[in-house]
Amino acid sequence: DKLPGILADGKLTVATSADFAPYEFYEGEDIVGIDPEIVKAIGEKLKVDVEIKDMDFNNIIASIGSGRADIGAAGMTVDPKRLENVNFTDTYASSTQIFLIKKDSGIKSKDDLKDKTIGSQLGTVGNEIAEEEFDKVSAFAKYPDAVLALQNGKVDAILMDKTSAEKFLAANDDLEIMEADYESEDYAFAIGKEEDEAKEIINKAIKELQDDGTIEEIVKKYK
Ligand code: ARG
Repeated sequence: DKLPGILADGKLTVATSADFAPYEFYEGEDIVGIDPEIVKAIGEKLKVDVEIKDMDFNNIIASIGSGRADIGAAGMTVDPKRLENVNFTDTYASSTQIFLIKKDSGIKSKDDLKDKTIGSQLGTVGNEIAEEEFDKVSAFAKYPDAVLALQNGKVDAILMDKTSAEKFLAANDDLEIMEADYESEDYAFAIGKEEDEAKEIINKAIKELQDDGTIEEIVKKYK
């Protein structure tokens, strides 16, 4: 049987921003992590090839609109604002926003951040919230540059997803996490608005990979 829509050419082109361990990051030349592995498992199930394309997070949704990518797999939050341009598959993970700060910053609560500069990644939920709540916001295309700015004192905190912040913590012992009370966010794959048939097929694959423990195993491997 011929697969519908984006799946019909036997190839799934996946946009990501490989700066977000454990979800997607470079290991040498390879992009690895929870998202690439889940997407490859979906590809195997559907018998389509998977090609991962690294780009700035801020370009992922546009790349789906223009056909440069079929889906986005980038620890993407199901943000209602995004639904204008893309749909989302069923969710496969969740996280929450926290502040990544320097250990010696003296920052103890959100109040201490009032007049400070908040770093974020362009196009993310963290950036959206930072723009709403703070006067001084700095946006970076890639997270490592935001972390460098934090370490150099150019920003005072980074508002970002906790799971990925934990990986930056593990690699930089001058940093720590300050919890905040933001709501939990669901991660899903972004897909074109006209791709309901392909979306249902991908959702079925996600469900099977959840039911047989594959996704849990992948998450465990990278946590
Ligand atoms: N969950 C957040 C969002 O969707 C951040 C995702 C960042 N992902 C990345 N691969 N850099 O806005």
